[in-house]
Amino acid sequence: MPLVLAVALTAGACKPREKAPPQVARALREFEGAYPLEARPNGTVRAFDIVAEPTEVALVNGHRLRVWAYNGQVPGPQLRIRLGETLRVRFTNRLPQETTIHWHGVRLPNAMDGVPHATQPPVQPGETFVYEFTPKDAGTFWFHPHVRSSEQVERGLYGVLIVEDAEPPPYSRDAMWVIDDWLLDETGQVLPRFNTRHDLAHDGRWGNVLTVNGRTDEVLRVRPGERIRLRLLNSANGRVVMPDFSALEAKLIAVDGMYLREPIDPAGFELAPGNRIDLDITFNQNMAAPLPIFDRFSSRRPNRLADIVVEGEPVIPAGFASPARAHVPAWKEGLQVPEHHGFRLNARRGGPFGIEWTIDDKAFAGHSHHHEPLLTLKQGRFYRLRFVNESARLHPIHLHGMFFRLLARDGVPVDEPFFRDTVLVHGRESVDIALVPTDVGSWMMHCHILEHAEAGMMTLLEVTSG
Ligand code: C2O
Ligand code: CU
Repeated sequence: MPLVLAVALTAGACKPREKAPPQVARALREFEGAYPLEARPNGTVRAFDIVAEPTEVALVNGHRLRVWAYNGQVPGPQLRIRLGETLRVRFTNRLPQETTIHWHGVRLPNAMDGVPHATQPPVQPGETFVYEFTPKDAGTFWFHPHVRSSEQVERGLYGVLIVEDAEPPPYSRDAMWVIDDWLLDETGQVLPRFNTRHDLAHDGRWGNVLTVNGRTDEVLRVRPGERIRLRLLNSANGRVVMPDFSALEAKLIAVDGMYLREPIDPAGFELAPGNRIDLDITFNQNMAAPLPIFDRFSSRRPNRLADIVVEGEPVIPAGFASPARAHVPAWKEGLQVPEHHGFRLNARRGGPFGIEWTIDDKAFAGHSHHHEPLLTLKQGRFYRLRFVNESARLHPIHLHGMFFRLLARDGVPVDEPFFRDTVLVHGRESVDIALVPTDVGSWMMHCHILEHAEAGMMTLLEVTSG
């Protein structure tokens, strides 16, 4: 496979295929070289054991929340490896249901992607499965089940995978905020009704308790002068957040794991379910009081996410160049490339929950064992795809196994200086993206509002060689 792809890309660069418009050759040339087509394992294997099982955790004020957790923690264990290292996870399922682990955002071999029936049989209660792969990219990724995810993720099954650069930039610390949103009932426990009509008719399950790192009272304590890297993940089923860091000197340096072309102001970034952002923040002075960081996605009702406290002995600020200087092609010519496919996103009555969410009028039946891909793409080619939201609801569309660039919203060109693996498509909006598939296999594409996905808004894209 590696050779085939290398040849395809080189051919694309030097001698455009017949019929391939010149823009395509240019777009491919801009991509090749910048992103590794193959993993480069350095021989070091990092082994972890992960067990999924029901347990209790302290949410806040000593309140015991019954959850399903990886290794007894919510969020699950933070797996940290370096680029070039191989991750080996021995996973055991002690849940009352079958499950899998999907490695969100990671370019990996298809057999390790954790999609039930498509890439592996589901892991039955009591069974063990070994996931092993060498990521091709450094960045902030996460993992979660891909079986009944609207229930399993909501109950607490998710964790972070950080792939550090081979030489990590010298931030004084590397902190993580995992943002989640829980719908608790009168007894303070996870409301055990999933995929309700209400959730399905709206933007999924939005909860009544917001947590950061599993707590409602998370505080990040830093010293004046510190320069930190703060990584954020939205692991909620449905809620979109827009964290407001405007009171701080914060720069956006990575989105969905991948570095930006240059650091930018993070204001207005919509962190949809599945999205990650990395911020570079320097704390210049002491602050008299804790600084609350608010989510301002819904302008009427800001939500407090966590507090930052700057106190103590000052440290000398670390001066080093921002790591955000990736080669991110502008792909301006991408909009002239004919659209390869336009996916229509919509809903209709019917299906097991009463409402089905569809892609091109098809609802994915999660528990069936046989799936036809909706679209076939060739490895190493440039594609422009479009999502047309015919509904009024939100759809953060996520592609497995590849990353893409946003080209336009409602036909208006946008140049985000970064790649993504999840893009929020607003009600009635159309979104154009471009991508170059690098890995062969059956890759899922779905809405990351997990109730929408469970009710059908999922499909498979087949990437074939040559
Ligand atoms: Cu977090 Cu199929 O995705
Ligand atoms: Cu959706």
